[in-house]
Amino acid sequence: MPLLPSPFANAVLPLLRPLRGWLREDVFDYYGRILHPQLQLQRVLARVVARRMEGDSTLVLTLAPSRHWQGLAAGQHVALTTEIRGVRHTRCYSPMPQSGGLIEVGIKRQPGGLVSGYLHDYAKVGQYLEIGQAQGQLLLPEPAPAKWLLLAAGSGITPLLSMLRARLAQGSLGDVVLLYYGRRRRELAFVEELRAMPGLRLQVCLTGEPIQDGETAGRLSAAQLALLVPDATERQAYACGAYGFTDTANTLWQDGAFASLVVESFSPPNWQVEDDMPVQLTYQRSNRQLAGRTGGTLLEQAEAHGLKPAHGCRMGICNTCTCHKREGAVRDLRTGKISMEPDETIRLCITAPVGDVVLDL
Ligand code: FES
Repeated sequence: MPLLPSPFANAVLPLLRPLRGWLREDVFDYYGRILHPQLQLQRVLARVVARRMEGDSTLVLTLAPSRHWQGLAAGQHVALTTEIRGVRHTRCYSPMPQSGGLIEVGIKRQPGGLVSGYLHDYAKVGQYLEIGQAQGQLLLPEPAPAKWLLLAAGSGITPLLSMLRARLAQGSLGDVVLLYYGRRRRELAFVEELRAMPGLRLQVCLTGEPIQDGETAGRLSAAQLALLVPDATERQAYACGAYGFTDTANTLWQDGAFASLVVESFSPPNWQVEDDMPVQLTYQRSNRQLAGRTGGTLLEQAEAHGLKPAHGCRMGICNTCTCHKREGAVRDLRTGKISMEPDETIRLCITAPVGDVVLDL
């Protein structure tokens, strides 16, 4: 039971902003947390106010963020952090804005998923979870396109549903087609809500069980797209799902005469590094020098060396793995760009060494 009531703790938060440069955050947060979990210098703690299941495998948590929360545009994602057996773990989710400043987060249970499994089994009303500020490129355009096409796979539905809800709240959806992919029917979340949306043409595509009337079998392909959405080339498209799915969408759009496509993936790509040469990795704060290689990310190599760098998405979007590189040449695996600047900030999950590297780890 917090020592301070929630309205009082939240009323104090805006008054802290001018003090951020003057107070030591770790010390303030330690004592603030004793008075109320949301009394933090800048971290956003969100209270779980409701939980429910959507489909067989998606847990929906309704969260009330503290007043440090700067809001969310439909389609953006946040890094959500929870502590499991004393270790902080971060994952990215796409919340959906609700009335009254609340947000809803859909968490699909992943096979063997540590964080999703923990939240499904243990997240309870009244608990506090840390969330980062909203980020992401998957945004509802202004003005909204006249014709659009949404491609969702699995939990990729949540940012797209968020965009649909926002567009509906503005008036009407316009001419929109949603191809919603999943292995099994019962794994698909929010289907009832989607079916009830006026003007939405929803097509369920199943890849792991026999189809019923009105459903389509098989994965996203050029032939399937031509069959289901003959005017796909005229539509502004948005795709969200695991990396393999968004990569297929990207390839289709590159090969065809389509209008533009915006994609967001919630799983990391398989980074391709042409050479795999030995290098030396120095972890300065840990006082260790170990053999590394150019063919892997600095995050996975640090983990293999027994270090536990903070991380979340493992794909370069949440910034949780940000680290100081003291010296050495590194490659940004998304762009291929090599950087040799001393004392630069890098993201360990999307960076590979090109030569010997010294890290502030
Ligand atoms: S873990 Fe999210 S940016 Fe590296």
